[in-house]
Amino acid sequence: MTDSLLVSYAPATGEEVWRGAYGDVEAIVSKARKAWPGWAAKSLTTRIEVVRRFANEVRADKEKLATLIATETGKPLWEANTEVEAVIGKVEISVQAYAERTGRKRLDSAMQGIAAVRHKPHGVMAVLGPYNFPAHLPNGHMVPALIAGNVIVFKPSEKTPAVAEALVECWRRSGIDVDAVQLLVGGPNEGKALTLSADVDGVLFTGSAQAGISINRSLSTNPGKIVALEMGGNNPIVVTDTPKVVDAAAIIVQSAFTTAGQRCTAARRLIVVDAMYDGVMEQLLPLAKRLVVDEPFADPAPFMGPVIDNETADRLNESFLELMTRGGKPLLHMRRPDPERPFLTPGIIDTTTQEDRPDIELFGPVLQVIRVADLDAAIAEANNTRFGLSASLIGGSPEDYGRFWANARAGIINWNRPTNGASSDAPFGGIGLSGNHRPAAYYAADYCAYPVASNEMEQPRAKIGIGLSD
Ligand code: NAD
Ligand code: SIN
Repeated sequence: MTDSLLVSYAPATGEEVWRGAYGDVEAIVSKARKAWPGWAAKSLTTRIEVVRRFANEVRADKEKLATLIATETGKPLWEANTEVEAVIGKVEISVQAYAERTGRKRLDSAMQGIAAVRHKPHGVMAVLGPYNFPAHLPNGHMVPALIAGNVIVFKPSEKTPAVAEALVECWRRSGIDVDAVQLLVGGPNEGKALTLSADVDGVLFTGSAQAGISINRSLSTNPGKIVALEMGGNNPIVVTDTPKVVDAAAIIVQSAFTTAGQRCTAARRLIVVDAMYDGVMEQLLPLAKRLVVDEPFADPAPFMGPVIDNETADRLNESFLELMTRGGKPLLHMRRPDPERPFLTPGIIDTTTQEDRPDIELFGPVLQVIRVADLDAAIAEANNTRFGLSASLIGGSPEDYGRFWANARAGIINWNRPTNGASSDAPFGGIGLSGNHRPAAYYAADYCAYPVASNEMEQPRAKIGIGLSD
């Protein structure tokens, strides 16, 4: 009965990592629904105590969890370690964010009583996660949602169930109410059924624009559910005048190729002003060529591991060839050293002369280069996308950056810093096809609770002062 089981594999070796049954959506949601009143009724202090115990459980299991993340995603161990640190760090950040963004307000006035603003949880929150950060990104929804008094049904990526199970195990050990955090194993079908379930009050999604739009569409006649969509990008990195070309090349490499390009904020398009083009390429191409691509536990440590699976590697290869067919000039060919495994070396292709560049997210180590006349043309090209997640400017004066910041359409705009590596201390979200104006990270508190405004007096006190007949 293998067909009814979900199996995950290590991208680097092809070995099986996890095997288990698909979840029963309604049974799982129903358990969460029953757990909700009890969890919501707990004091905020108690809920915070539990999430802190969860952080301690993750801390205690740090190495095991990082090893599992590296195995199941293929990302290098050093990077998996930083993901686990982000999971732990999220707890204190969320405690602070809840107080700051959803704290209570009370205005006392003897005559008018009390005017109060307090927040309430939504209920059962469906958390749908991607494979590239299988712990950190779902956790980024789960922790603030639990602090606010919601319960969770977590549907991880079908490619990373083992990490999800380990994370949920940490919740169990934290002593959280039984059933307040549910794991739903499955793929897009289970995801669809979950988002449509009548007992789900909110959908917190991180993944591709394609899936996010499909969720948005399916819930368009249901305004009662809160929906936060954190989606992909076709992110630009612009290089204008700078004497620091070596540093510029390093920032471009970090932006485009960290996690084998499997970051939503990865730079997909390098837009270079004419005067900088040759100098940047002289530094960038040899540097990208030197990046070590290897299995996650290799010693010395690699810069990047494989992409998630062979199907993804095949698709990326085809996309690179397609760009070439449309007139792109390869500056660094993307190679696949082992045809049996999804390791890809960085690919860089100049698509300047291509007229109809596809505005899609190539979620892997592919960087398109576009040469433009000046900064104005670069900004116009940066905005030549339906997405709007991250954008960086390298070089230029403070005035240039001011112009870039004012005109670039994105939720994350950086200067002389990579497009990726966003901080959990800041809001994290995009516009256009990248999100629906419900940023995550520090602002996740906003979609985890809704405000209730109240006017309150201990006793009724009123009289009709006008418009009464004798
Ligand atoms: P994906 O969209 O394929 O899947 C994400 C999750 O949604 C999975 O759990 C999947 O099973 C589920 N799903 C897929 N189709 C669905 C549907 N129609 N209805 C309900 N659920 C559905 O994404 P992925 O391939 O796992 O992850 C990579 C994508 O995630 C990239 O596009 C990347 O840019 C994006 N991403 C975005 C952010 C962000 O915060 N903006 C962060 C990381 C990754
Ligand atoms: C991601 O969530 O995919 C990337 C986060 C970042 O590095 O900015």
